[in-house]
Amino acid sequence: MKFVLASHNPGKLKEMQAVLGAVGVEVVLQSELGISVDVEENGTTFAENARLKAEAVCKASGLPAIADDSGLCVDALDGAPGVYTARYGGEGLDDQGRYRFLLENLKGAENRAAHFQTAISCIFPDGRELTAQGRCDGVIAKAPAGSDGFGYDPVFFLPALGKTFAQLTAEEKNAISHRGQALRAFAQVLKEHLEGV
Ligand code: IMP
Repeated sequence: MKFVLASHNPGKLKEMQAVLGAVGVEVVLQSELGISVDVEENGTTFAENARLKAEAVCKASGLPAIADDSGLCVDALDGAPGVYTARYGGEGLDDQGRYRFLLENLKGAENRAAHFQTAISCIFPDGRELTAQGRCDGVIAKAPAGSDGFGYDPVFFLPALGKTFAQLTAEEKNAISHRGQALRAFAQVLKEHLEGV
């Protein structure tokens, strides 16, 4: 069965294929099918945003569509930036600008607990939806460390490992990350669903 990934990002496709290959499904990027819909992510939860994206691409392609949505939730900021993670601090900032803005907002904060979260939604043309979630707990470091990864990786510190996400190899990060966990959970849900159909 062919699935379309609601994304233009070849990196995300590679990650998805690596996990879903074992389930025996084919996944292609929406851009490979010439689908250019870009949905406004105006949901109030990661799950809602993932569903909005999957629904739109399913409708445009006529194929089952998979979408994911992730973000960072910081306890001392009442869960912010949450669904605004990608645009935290305003449109003009780059990754470094965004995590510096976060460090500034947490200056002097005792409680630095935070977690990354990922929601995955898969919508079939007949309206069925499969979902999966992943979560990775950590703390926001006082200063950035490490040069791998992207986004907030240099300031997301894992006390159990004594390292930030940006100090892990891609394999090490994938083994514990919110996205890695959500992908593996999704592969399991999809496998069970397809076996039961
Ligand atoms: P997306 O939904 O996967 O595009 O993630 C939204 C935003 O969350 C990204 O633009 C990043 O700023 C942030 N983000 C998501 N996952 C990670 C991660 O693994 N490390 C660092 N930042 C992340």
